[in-house]
Amino acid sequence: MKIKIGVIGTGYVGLVTAVCLAELGHQVVGTDVVKEKIDFALAGRPHIYEPGLEELLQKNLKRGNLNFYHDLDKTIQDSDVLFVCVSTPQLADGRADMTYVEGVSRRIADNLNSYKLIVEKSTVPVRTSAWIKRVINLYRKNAENYDVASNPEFLREGSAVHDFLNPDRIIIGVESEKAEKILCQIYQKFADKILVTNIDTAELIKHASNSFLAMKISFINLISELCEKTEADVELVARGMGLDPRIGPQFLKAGVGYGGSCFPKDVRALIHIGEEMGVDFSLLKEVDKINTRRIYIFVNKVKQVLWVLREKKIAVLGLSFKPQTDDIRNAPSIEVIRELKKEGAYLRLYDPQAIANMKKIFPEQEPDLVYCPSAYEALEGANAGLIITEWPEFQNLDLRKVETIMSNPILIDGRNIFEPAEVRKMGFEYYSIGRK
Ligand code: UGA
Repeated sequence: MKIKIGVIGTGYVGLVTAVCLAELGHQVVGTDVVKEKIDFALAGRPHIYEPGLEELLQKNLKRGNLNFYHDLDKTIQDSDVLFVCVSTPQLADGRADMTYVEGVSRRIADNLNSYKLIVEKSTVPVRTSAWIKRVINLYRKNAENYDVASNPEFLREGSAVHDFLNPDRIIIGVESEKAEKILCQIYQKFADKILVTNIDTAELIKHASNSFLAMKISFINLISELCEKTEADVELVARGMGLDPRIGPQFLKAGVGYGGSCFPKDVRALIHIGEEMGVDFSLLKEVDKINTRRIYIFVNKVKQVLWVLREKKIAVLGLSFKPQTDDIRNAPSIEVIRELKKEGAYLRLYDPQAIANMKKIFPEQEPDLVYCPSAYEALEGANAGLIITEWPEFQNLDLRKVETIMSNPILIDGRNIFEPAEVRKMGFEYYSIGRK
């Protein structure tokens, strides 16, 4: 018999989870409080940009094992397993806001019409499962049995579908054999990738993994600061470090800092969990501080190159927090734009996917801020071009053409996408991160 899966919350994690679980052959229904997300999903159009998602959404809607309901109660009642994918946004003091998780737990308590396995999929602080159980036990109306489990998601935006269907690990945190059996059955295809732990461990694996990766990035960014004061080259330092298999080459790319909906939030959440439990995470406070500093170091670089920014035309290439996504949450571009606006610069912004989202934060306001339909148009007449996100199309720009259309051929590259010697040979003044 097919396990009936309900996915609660169809944001980035939820929608990808629903579509990919259906792709694995399960019977899945997704739901969300935002009506438009469900309308879009039912029409086969994801409300987010994620490579490969639309195709799989349409395929699985068509073959009938994926559906979306507007109704949370019905989703709960019709499902054996509930993947909770609601957001846990950051509160002003850095803690994770658990309002939505609590709300969903209460609705599950209201609709406990048969055994349910409740799976935490979104990133939650360690000990969340104990709270979910407490809420369900307080509000339940009947004695049906249930289990809580943790199955943290490790997918990256921009390659989410690929990551889900090619996992390097499936973490299953359980406290009953029944829950373990069900989750192992759901992930049968990846049986050799499964690690079963208790729930606290699974919850902590997620926060620890994200914080560790953020630490790697801040570490190399700090090294890049030292490289800028010496003759060392951060790209080669990272390559040399990465050759040691104990360190590995990934997440050692220096730049304007990490953004997104996960690293900044998860680092701060873990600092708070530590505080609540009497464990000093000063290490992570430093990681966060170094990351925030990246923006000001970069903007200072722009000032050192252009001197006065007032009425200078500056092209900003890349608005999303990383390539292959339209997501601008905590994108370094936002603070860079704010700082440059304060200085009175005229900004010409371009991104292949994220312009619509950025317009919600910075509405178009000529001549201070203009959105351009292409990188070339952004660069036309500019006194400098900034690279904030390493979209592949920027690497493929026709630099000979760029050199002729810019007022001053100056590139300030926050992601080290070009070879300094090559671009300089083409006539550019070129500045990048942690290298001469
Ligand atoms: C991250 C994790 O990589 C996923 O495993 C995790 O599932 C996800 O958070 C989550 O918790 O949901 P994501 O935020 O999509 O994924 O993006 P990453 O590819 O990890 O990049 C995060 C940020 O770090 C980006 O701003 C990126 O530009 C920056 N970064 C990454 C660097 O500055 N340098 C690097 O070497 C790598």
